Amino acid sequence: MRVLTAALALLALVAAGPLSAAPIVIKFSHVVAENTPKGQMAIKFKELVEQRLGDKVVVEVYPNSQLFGDDKVLEAMLLGDVQIAAPALSKFERYTKALQIFDLPFLFKDMAAVERFQQSAEGQQLLTSMEDKGVLGLGYLHNGLKQLSAHSPLRVPEDAHKLKFRVMASDVLVAQFDAVDAAAVKKPFSEVFTLLQTNAIDGQENTWSNIYSQKFFEVQEYITESNHGLLDYLVVTSSDFWNGLPDDIRAEVKAALDESLAYANDLANKKNEADKAAIIASGRSEVIELTDAQRQQWVDAMRPVWKQFEDEIGKDLIEAAYSSNQ
Ligand code: LMR
Repeated sequence: MRVLTAALALLALVAAGPLSAAPIVIKFSHVVAENTPKGQMAIKFKELVEQRLGDKVVVEVYPNSQLFGDDKVLEAMLLGDVQIAAPALSKFERYTKALQIFDLPFLFKDMAAVERFQQSAEGQQLLTSMEDKGVLGLGYLHNGLKQLSAHSPLRVPEDAHKLKFRVMASDVLVAQFDAVDAAAVKKPFSEVFTLLQTNAIDGQENTWSNIYSQKFFEVQEYITESNHGLLDYLVVTSSDFWNGLPDDIRAEVKAALDESLAYANDLANKKNEADKAAIIASGRSEVIELTDAQRQQWVDAMRPVWKQFEDEIGKDLIEAAYSSNQ
């Protein structure tokens, strides 16, 4: 009897076909809220992959530094604990100096110039600038231009003297604040609200969408519309993971990624404009518009940072990026 049961069970198994392979899991870890360009891109990517690859690939999105902060995520990716991340371009300096180009203050006049440079031959080459470290860039993701916020009004560079600003982990950003005699401290994104709220720091720089979604505007009395620098992202994976994917799956995942990037890049400007309007409507912070003369003072004060980093970044690359403004 027992033999018969076993034989029947085996038959049933054979009839059911081969055991289906476990799905490939892509963990996508990031630090911002879902209601941001990056948050929306990650959700769109998950939807598209699951629509097209059914049960072959599962995407798990972890927003809000739930899984890793940006200080740890690249290491985690190289260890295989995360498969996709999208840190700000400012957060790769341990892996390449070339991406520091994106942090140079007042380099790009608007997001159209940023887009032109990123899509140029020089911009595309930067995607593979960390391949020797096992980090592969899959595409650029926009957020937007950064604004300065503080507990006190910032109209001219002297207003920033001796104030303490939080920056991302980037020496260029530290130099940018040195240039106006302010102090810069590198801190994780997840700590910024509390640092501002407790007055441990005086100010920070970020896009409208981050200032809004992280509620920085509730703990910063003034926001200066400076558009002085860029906050964009590089969507990255580990070369090991990427090259280990079956060809057909890799192609589908890449197509879904490109579509979700196009979707979010289109959304980014609108999101920042809407969040700026929501901040103004809240009445919690005063938004300061600079006169041309005031803005020029910030440009003059911060521009020497380009020269400081010219050797590390490369003069030709800086010129190529600057020429995208025309
Ligand atoms: C920051 O740390 O300010 C940003 O990188 C956060 C983000 O990912 O937008």
